[in-house]
Amino acid sequence: MRAFGWVALMVLAGCAVAEPPGAELYDALCAGCHGVSGKGDGVIAGELPVAPADLTRLSASNGGVFPRERAMAWIHGYPDRYSARVMPEFGPLLDGETVMVVAEDGTRVPTPKSLVLIVSYLESLQEG
Ligand code: HEC
Repeated sequence: MRAFGWVALMVLAGCAVAEPPGAELYDALCAGCHGVSGKGDGVIAGELPVAPADLTRLSASNGGVFPRERAMAWIHGYPDRYSARVMPEFGPLLDGETVMVVAEDGTRVPTPKSLVLIVSYLESLQEG
């Protein structure tokens, strides 16, 4: 029994270490609305006037290609700054260390590292 306990502990520790980058940020900032799974079933989802998007279907609804730039822009908040939306803008919260991201048109855009991590995590959640 004791041996089993240790094995379970090691498996749990392994899970914690193996958590993909960006998951922690996602859990802290996004899961309340979009759900831990990303399917839009967060604890406050039912109280919002607009249902949070199912984030596991971003590729599926974009012809099978993950819409990386669109997701980054949306989360940051720039393109919809002046339009009504339920989801808050995360640009100010994600400010900090930047990394270079090569955009679809080849330009290099300094982008907050935490935004890149979150969007990579979203990419890992995509289903068929
Ligand atoms: C307060 C609730 C709330 C929080 C917190 C939230 N979202 Fe959203 N999100 C929404 C809602 C509602 C929509 C649907 C569009 C709208 O805002 O009207 C949406 C839409 C989106 C979309 C657009 C999907 C598409 O169809 O292109 C993405 C991507 C997204 N959210 C990612 C995130 C990420 C990543 C975070 C955390 C950094 C986050 N959201 C935090 C409520 C939220």
